[in-house]
Amino acid sequence: MAIRVCIGSCSDFPDGQGVPLVAAGRRIAVFRIGERFFAIDNVCPHNRSPLADGGVQDLIVTCRTHGARFRLETGAVVRGPARKAVRTYPVHVRGEAVEVEID
Ligand code: FES
Repeated sequence: MAIRVCIGSCSDFPDGQGVPLVAAGRRIAVFRIGERFFAIDNVCPHNRSPLADGGVQDLIVTCRTHGARFRLETGAVVRGPARKAVRTYPVHVRGEAVEVEID
């Protein structure tokens, strides 16, 4: 069963940058892109580097270690060396509160 975890307020998330955090025991990276929020696992499936450190362009995050790219919306691999998608989590904004849904 999915639970919603409050992870902060909108102003805690700088536009265009990843924020690492732990929610319900999961290491996740949260990205704010304008008024949209995305949450993915904060572990690159290639060699476990933190994806929160990656640069973002066109809703794609690039792992800083070897350059794998993942779509923030789906977690799909856009470019290797990673071959496996990253997990994504729904993010909900209620007023100023940001919540991530973890199952
Ligand atoms: S650890 Fe992310 S691309 Fe290698």
